[in-house]
Amino acid sequence: MTPLISYDDSHMLISAKDRKSVQKRLIAAHKQLESLRVSEEQGFFGLPDDSGTVRIVERLAKKVQAKFDRLIVIGIGGSDLGARTIWHALGEKKMSLEFVSNPDPETLYHVLATTDWSKTAINVISKSGTTLETMAVFMTLRQGLINAVGVAAHREHIVATTDPSEASTLYQIAMEEGYAILPHPLNVGGRYSVLSVVGLFPAAASGVNVRKLLAGAATVEAERRAKRVESIPARLATNQYLAMTQYGRDIHVLMPYADLLHEFGFWYRQIWAESLGKVRDGESVGPTPIAAFGAIDQHSQIQLYNEGPDNKTVTFIEVESFRRSLRVPKVWGDKQGIGYVGGLSFADILHAERAGTEHALASHGRPSGTITIPNISEESLGALFMLFETATAYMGELLHVNAFNQPGVEAGKKEAKKILETAGKKTGKTKG
Ligand code: PA5
Repeated sequence: MTPLISYDDSHMLISAKDRKSVQKRLIAAHKQLESLRVSEEQGFFGLPDDSGTVRIVERLAKKVQAKFDRLIVIGIGGSDLGARTIWHALGEKKMSLEFVSNPDPETLYHVLATTDWSKTAINVISKSGTTLETMAVFMTLRQGLINAVGVAAHREHIVATTDPSEASTLYQIAMEEGYAILPHPLNVGGRYSVLSVVGLFPAAASGVNVRKLLAGAATVEAERRAKRVESIPARLATNQYLAMTQYGRDIHVLMPYADLLHEFGFWYRQIWAESLGKVRDGESVGPTPIAAFGAIDQHSQIQLYNEGPDNKTVTFIEVESFRRSLRVPKVWGDKQGIGYVGGLSFADILHAERAGTEHALASHGRPSGTITIPNISEESLGALFMLFETATAYMGELLHVNAFNQPGVEAGKKEAKKILETAGKKTGKTKG
């Protein structure tokens, strides 16, 4: 299977000697990932082949589409960003989606005030089933729904995606209430879950072809298994690892040149940061991800990337061909400075801007790489998700950190809970 994506790392400014020096470590990393995959300790590798889940998701999506025309998706972090990215890139085909993640009273007030509940369903997503933000938002919107349609009818409007065990309070509630339940696979972590029920159900409900999404992801996984340490994810991770450890470039900027990939940068930022920022043998390690955006950040961030501290690498995402072709009208050909603009295609403008930025970085001695996807499609997006999930896993192995836990996130969750429980005790609002 040929991967849909290609990766040009000829401007990464990494010496052959450095590449050679990491070979043994890379081979060990690959072996370890293969063992995590084969033992199913990490389930995300196998998601592109999970046809059973696809059937469940498609069936439920059809049911929801038949009754409602809008789906509110409630979740945070890995339970939000993947589905949000798909929605942003591939858009509305059958149902309109709205993502409510932050427990911001202004947003919630607006949602409560504007929702026609008779036509709206809710997909609440939380693997743990206890996340503060998600549960607070869900409790609030559910109440709005009940107020509008009544206790009995509200049950038909809710799909809960969660760990199907008593460990999840959301699961217990969903069982008590009789909500539809989508089981969050236990061996798939939140930020690796976009190709599971977590991302697939909202995607399918909106009308996205989830089979194509998975087919795109499968091309990357097939290439990884076939080419092993020479595969695109392994090369991407190796370059970032060497840039960081040998050249002091521990900031990784991801810069797609396409409006529809804007949210992808935020999805990437989470998986890179939450997986790789860790304490290793008492030492804090980890690369810093930055979500930049072309061409807009050429008029903002690029000054820093060209002339500021030499501590960054930039990975561009280029879209070969856009779904719409549009040219600038041929006017003002005789005007100074803009005479050449009339008649240009917008795709050519974006391509030239990316290439120009690459050249400018190179002329300042700054490294960059380019991932090219053929178009914005289900297949390409699935491929991008799989590329960054597996590259993150390689990077974790190379750095000798556990890319699959998140003690720093859990610590924040516990602290917020403590503060709110103490405040509740003082005002007598919550039980001990
Ligand atoms: O990647 C992760 O594990 C986290 O970002 C979680 O997705 C996030 O904290 C939400 O957790 P949950 O799905 O349990 O509500």
